Amino acid sequence: MSGAERELIVYFQSAEFPKGGFLPKGQVRIAPDDRGFMLGDGVYEVVRCYEGRFFALSEHLARLRYSLNATGIELGEITPLSEIGFELLRCNHLERADAILYIQVTRGIWSRWERPPSGLVPTLYVEVAPFRSDKDAESGIAAITVPDIRWGRCDIKALGLLPNILARQLAEKKGAAEAIFVRDGFVTEGSHTTVFGVRAGTVITHPTDHKILAGITRAYVIQLCRKLGQPVVEEPIPVAELPLFNELFLACTTLEVVPVVLLDGSPVGTGRAGPVTERLQAEFRRHVRSVLE
Ligand code: PDD
Repeated sequence: MSGAERELIVYFQSAEFPKGGFLPKGQVRIAPDDRGFMLGDGVYEVVRCYEGRFFALSEHLARLRYSLNATGIELGEITPLSEIGFELLRCNHLERADAILYIQVTRGIWSRWERPPSGLVPTLYVEVAPFRSDKDAESGIAAITVPDIRWGRCDIKALGLLPNILARQLAEKKGAAEAIFVRDGFVTEGSHTTVFGVRAGTVITHPTDHKILAGITRAYVIQLCRKLGQPVVEEPIPVAELPLFNELFLACTTLEVVPVVLLDGSPVGTGRAGPVTERLQAEFRRHVRSVLE
């Protein structure tokens, strides 16, 4: 049986399976009354694993803690999650593989017709799956702008992703790979990425507030800019000024740094990946390699 055919071993814990444990994915039983299933009442994290080593795991776990606190989901200790992640790599024979760690926590099992009590046992699902990066995206992708119809707490990494899915569907329909949200005339972020612009030599991205997710890759890109002496500011980009930008790029856990070369059907800058983006893409990779060595 090849790695692709082998059924994944995952970690699962819920009020109906309180001790928790490692089991084949097909044996996980989600209760119909699980509030994640019924109401999208939960939060999640996505962590990249390079050749069997997790990148920025502590930052992702800190953001998970933030999302849990913001939603009042009572998971308790978060440290065992890294041990669960390492064990999942081991039991799925992914110790040397590129993979994605997915962690989801829901408020737990309770009738959707009743207010859930505090102290409800949350449901925890953790999976590590093999991951292949999208090489085609590295040289540049097309994106479209769409109205940001999401809620007012985009800083929480919450399960309810319908607006993001609709935006992505529209992008795909128009032959683009990502949808960039625009709220009140300003670029916020992508459907699953942080958006950066480069104008007159300065890198610009939305500040961290309730309108965007505080991307972990975003923080590394800003840190790299500062280290390289590359001017960087955290300010919202007015959508009307996008045509004046020389470069646009996206950053996230799965894509790393990816240039946007076509926006709403028009070329961005020269229509090819720009020098600042290419440098940050290369430096980000170098940084990942250096911290994992
Ligand atoms: N997406 N903004 C949104 C709305 C996101 O969903 C993500 C991550 C990011 C970038 O965050 P980070 O650099 O920490 O990955 C920004 C993940 C990968 C996903 O849900 O697929």
